[in-house]
Amino acid sequence: MLMKKWAVIIMAAGKGKRMRSDLVKVLHPLLGKMMLSYTVELCLEELQPEKVVVIVGHQARKIRDAFPDRRITFVEQQEQLGTGHAVAVTESVLGTFAGTILILSGDTPLITAQTLLEMVQYHQGQGAALTLLTVYREDPIGYGRVIRGAAGTVHRVVEEQDASKREREITEVNTGIYCVEAPFLYQALGTVRSDNAQGEYYLPDIIASARRKKKKVKSFPVADPLEVMGINTRAELAVAEQLLADRVRQQVMTEGVTMQDPASVYIEPSCRIEKDTIIYPNCYLRGKTVIGEGCRIGPQAEISDSRIGDRVQVKFCTMITDSWIDDDAVVGPFSHLRPDSHLGKGAKIGNFVEVKKSRIGPGTKANHLSYIGDAEIGAEVNIGAGTITCNYDGQHKHRTVIEDKVFVGSNTALVAPLTIGAGAVIAAGSTVTKDVPPYALAVGRTRQKSLKKWVVKREKRNKGRQG
Ligand code: UD1
Ligand code: CA
Repeated sequence: MLMKKWAVIIMAAGKGKRMRSDLVKVLHPLLGKMMLSYTVELCLEELQPEKVVVIVGHQARKIRDAFPDRRITFVEQQEQLGTGHAVAVTESVLGTFAGTILILSGDTPLITAQTLLEMVQYHQGQGAALTLLTVYREDPIGYGRVIRGAAGTVHRVVEEQDASKREREITEVNTGIYCVEAPFLYQALGTVRSDNAQGEYYLPDIIASARRKKKKVKSFPVADPLEVMGINTRAELAVAEQLLADRVRQQVMTEGVTMQDPASVYIEPSCRIEKDTIIYPNCYLRGKTVIGEGCRIGPQAEISDSRIGDRVQVKFCTMITDSWIDDDAVVGPFSHLRPDSHLGKGAKIGNFVEVKKSRIGPGTKANHLSYIGDAEIGAEVNIGAGTITCNYDGQHKHRTVIEDKVFVGSNTALVAPLTIGAGAVIAAGSTVTKDVPPYALAVGRTRQKSLKKWVVKREKRNKGRQG
C-alpha cells in the first residue's frame, strides 16, 4: 500500500541523436507501438498516480498529437539542456505538489509496474528524500556509474564522459529512474550546474545536493538489467523488440496457445489469442487482432486488426487486414482479405482470391482465382474459379449483390451494379451486365459454333495450294 501522494514525470524531450533519425526517438515503433506508449500506458493503466507529466521538446507537437489522452499533462522543455533542466521545467505544474515524484525516461520502455511500485513503497517506507533505481551490468558502457562511499551509501552518479578510468570499471549503473520528494526535488535542481563534459544539467547531480543537506539517499536494486535497458541506438531498439516479443509469446503460450517455432512468430501486445489455437512458423499478428479457440494459423500468415472466430483455419501465405471471420471458416492458401471483409460461418476463401469490403455469407465458397470487391454475397453461394466483380468503372465503385445459393460458373465477369437473385445459375464464361432474376439461368457469352470437318477441309485446301 502506498502511503503518500505521488506523481510521475516521463522525460521525452530529447531528440535521440544516436538513433540518427528524422523521427524523435520516443516515437519510434517498438513491437508495433510507439516507444513512449509503453511508459505512458504503464502509468495510466497500472500505476495510476495522481498526475502523469510528460516532458516534450523535440517534435513536441507530434508527440502531443500522438497521445491525446486528457489524463496526461504535457510540459515543454524549449531547449534540451539536460535531464536536470528537463525535470526543472515541470515545476510549473508540480511546484506545489507535496508528495513523491517518480521520474521515468521515455526511452526505458521495458520497465514493469511491479518494480516501480516496489520502489515507491521502499522509498516512502524508508522516509528517503531520494531513491535511485540501480542495476549491475556486465557491460556498463554508456550508463552513469553509481559511486558509493565506504559505508555503502550512494554518493553520486558519474556519467561515462566524465568518469575516470577507475570509475568506468564500476558495473553498478544508474537506470535513470528515481523517486524524489517534491519540495526537495525543485530546491535541489536549483543548485545543479552544467560544468561537465557534456555541458548539460545532469539530473543525478541532485544526489550530491541531498547529501549536502543531510537528506536520506537510498538505492533500490533491480535484478534484471534488461528490464531497465535504455534505448539509445537502433541496435538497442532491436534488442528491446526481441525482449518484448518474447514476453508476449511467453504470455500467449501460458494462456494455452501452441507455437511450433515461437521465435519466428511476431505478436503485438495488443493481440488476444484464445486457447488450443496453433500458430505455425513465420506468422505476424498485429494491432487489435483477436483469434478464437482451436484455430490453425499459418505458416506465414499476416493478420492485422481482425476478429477471427473459433476453429478457423488461416493457411499458408495469407494476409488479412481489418476483417472479421466467423467460426469454422477456411482462408488460404494465398488469400488476401482486405479491409472491411466479413466471412460467415464455414465460408471458404481459397488460392489467389482477393476480397475487399464484402460480406460473404455462411457456407459460401470462392476457392480459386477471384476478385470480390464491394459485394454482398448470401449463404451457400458457389463462386467459380476466375470470377471477377467488376466493381470500378474508372470513376466510381459499384456494388454487386448475390443472393443465397447462387451458382456462378467459372471465368465470369460480374459488371456492377448488379443483383443476382437467389438460386440463379450463371453460365461459365459469362459477362453479366444486367440483373438476374431468382432461379434463372443467365448466359452472357457468344454461342459456340462447331464447323463440321473444318480440319479435314483445311488439309485439303493446303494440299491444293502446294500442288
Ligand atoms: C541517462 C542518465 C544516466 C543513466 C541513463 C540510463 C543523466 C545525465 N544521465 O543518460 O546516468 O545511466 O540515463 O538510461 O541523466 N531528456 C530530456 N531533456 C533533455 C535531455 C534528455 O527530456 O534535455 C530525456 C530524453 O528524451 C530521454 C531521457 O531524458 O528520454 C534520458 O536522456 P538520454 O540523453 O538518453 O540520457 P542518457 O545519456 O541515456
Ligand atoms: Ca538514454
